[in-house]
Amino acid sequence: MALILSKPKGFLGIDFGSYSIKVAEVMRGSPPELRSFGQVRVPLEGIKEEEIEQIVKRLNDLINNLKIKTRKTVACISSYASIIKRIEVTLTDDKDIDEIIKEETEAQIPFDIEEVYYDYYIIDSDEEKVEFLMAAAKKEAVEHILEITEALNLELIAIDIDVITTGNLFEQIYKKESPCLLLDLGASKTTITIWVKNKPHTIRDIGIGTNDIKNYIAEILNIKIDDAEKIIIDKKEEYKNTIKDGIKEYYKRLTDQIEETINTYKGQTKNTISQIFIYGGGEEIIDKKSLEKRLNIKTETIDVFSYINHKNINKATLKTIKSTGLTAISAATREIIHND
Ligand SMILES: Nc1ncnc2c1ncn2[C@@H]1O[C@H](COP(=O)(O)OP(=O)(O)OP(=O)(O)O)[C@@H](O)[C@H]1O
Ligand SMILES: [Mg+2]
Repeated sequence: MALILSKPKGFLGIDFGSYSIKVAEVMRGSPPELRSFGQVRVPLEGIKEEEIEQIVKRLNDLINNLKIKTRKTVACISSYASIIKRIEVTLTDDKDIDEIIKEETEAQIPFDIEEVYYDYYIIDSDEEKVEFLMAAAKKEAVEHILEITEALNLELIAIDIDVITTGNLFEQIYKKESPCLLLDLGASKTTITIWVKNKPHTIRDIGIGTNDIKNYIAEILNIKIDDAEKIIIDKKEEYKNTIKDGIKEYYKRLTDQIEETINTYKGQTKNTISQIFIYGGGEEIIDKKSLEKRLNIKTETIDVFSYINHKNINKATLKTIKSTGLTAISAATREIIHND
């Protein structure tokens, strides 16, 4: 006799970003459905122990307002609070594969091994070598997530690294055969991922983010960061040129790094990038046409709604959810993709 266990009807995905924490509730189905989405701001200095209570309160209010039904949760940690590396090691007769991977991982983490949690998955292996993806996150960041989800009475199933979950959702939506470049234009960082047939080939985190535009404007106009942000979002006419200069500066530094990543990849593999896919808050700011022209690569926004139904979501918020909500949605769909 077999026990038939029913699958959960839906999942909550929480993206712990440095600018805001996003919450997405996705229900199982064909297609899956985004039932609710919302976000709360993170204090400018990031999540510190003394602010946890306040963050929990804000998230609790959000969860109540959204009338969230599901408690099963997948959280995403920013790749900035973590390390991801693709590592290749040569196998030896005297050690088993787990031992070799553990030793190499410890050697590659720039922190004390006691300060991090780490995990890995094997990308490729043959008799001589093994290639794996190592992910390590600072214990402090993980413990904040555990503390927050526990206080919210949520059932935490997993903590994923943001770029891996979004890559998996990207794969589900597009199933591209040729190499693509995924760009997460976050507030404090940009993650450049070269995604090749179901796997990340390169993951690069660079310390350039939309915060740089705010900092630039705040410095030039001698105003607070929060006020600089209002100026950007409201696109205030009187500050048009300062906004333009701030974006130009961000854009230039960003595109130089993207170009360098693409050239390194080309040099290593002799392959080219067929398409660029963008997400993250910077998607609202960056001019895709000009990026496309500069790099001569077709560029578009990841369209999560070509895979997920959104009939209950307010139409006015869809555009923002598409860019800033992708990571939280991918966390919420993780189990659905794996098990359906
Ligand atoms: N409509 C908009 N117009 C202009 N800027 C916007 C808009 N929506 C979001 N942003 C900017 O995008 C940024 C937030 O992006 P995002 O939500 O991707 O960051 P995050 O995921 O919290 O940060 P990170 O990934 O770096 O940890 C903020 O700087 C915000 O000002
Ligand atoms: Mg982010």
